[in-house]
Amino acid sequence: MSKPNVNVKSDSKITSTYCCSWRAPSNIALIKYWGKWGRQLPMNPSLSFSLKHSCIEFDTCIETPADFTTTNPKLKSLLVDGKEIAKFSARIEKFLASTGDLLPELAGKEISIISRASFPHSTGIASSAASMAALALSLCSFQRTEDDLEFFRRASLIARLASGSACRSVYGGAVLWGRCEDDACIDEESSDEYAIPLSSEKYLAPLFRNMKDAILIVDSTPKKVSSSAGHQMMIDHPYREARVVLAHENLHKILLALKSGDAKVVAEIVEMEALGLHGLMMSSMPSYLLVRPNTIHIIERVRELRERESLPIFFTLDAGPNVHLLYPQELTSKIKAFVAEELLRFCEGGEWIDDEVGSGPLRL
Ligand code: PMV
Repeated sequence: MSKPNVNVKSDSKITSTYCCSWRAPSNIALIKYWGKWGRQLPMNPSLSFSLKHSCIEFDTCIETPADFTTTNPKLKSLLVDGKEIAKFSARIEKFLASTGDLLPELAGKEISIISRASFPHSTGIASSAASMAALALSLCSFQRTEDDLEFFRRASLIARLASGSACRSVYGGAVLWGRCEDDACIDEESSDEYAIPLSSEKYLAPLFRNMKDAILIVDSTPKKVSSSAGHQMMIDHPYREARVVLAHENLHKILLALKSGDAKVVAEIVEMEALGLHGLMMSSMPSYLLVRPNTIHIIERVRELRERESLPIFFTLDAGPNVHLLYPQELTSKIKAFVAEELLRFCEGGEWIDDEVGSGPLRL
């Protein structure tokens, strides 16, 4: 990724300018966040892996005007891979206007952003979690006084308000978001307000410490129903209560299985969560369908290979038709051959992304 300079016009009415750059990763959930309440709080706890290569970089400049009257920060300019995208600018403007109370040090500031993606835009891979994590890290870097723990916790909380799952993207590895009353599995204090990282040494058996993710692009067209609309439909969803109970149970089981190295249970839970998420969409009012026939073909091939060769591999889905195939690093050459021989025919233009679990955001 080349790194252009943020072009802040010199302006005699600006008294100071602060600039920083952050790269933040996308994440893929094993236990899905679906449905929210209050100020962007999750209906149930979720667990994800942050990715290594699917990242967004933000170059952010924060200017202090000589005199200002507003209490909120405001967006001065935003370029996404060199282009102005009105819808994305409007989303960030709305976010800045609604979070002024939590970012008092940014009152009246004018913010210019240049954002770049490390993955092709044409893939339909959601970039909002990575973008909003990069934004939150940049905003929290201005007048940073807290220690690391407080800094990342605050960035996670701010990212959550921009896009729920973004709160998990401020950390690497396995990340938990949401209050989980499960002392048997978690030593740390979990919260609905922000995500917490789960250390590999403590929570993951060696088998799950170096996972790869083959992201199989089935359809890159923008999805017809947004995640925000999907979350909204969970408010009156007929299976709402059952979903919350199930998510807690699945989280409990997967935490035990990730720790003990039980790949069979991990695969069962992750795939049930993925298909369950789409089941919730299919049983929403109005009901909708984001998977495509090729999504199903890929799922069937993955399950066949797992049964045939007893491999510790499993698939998951985001709120879209693309398939994430998760597998341990030791199986890389086998899985790459499998992708080439059996799965690429189901991918749009034969496209897939060779990703893996990463170590989290980086200040550039
Ligand atoms: O963060 P949002 O509002 O884009 O919701 C994302 C929800 C899922 O990606 C479907 C699940 C998850 O936990 O990431």
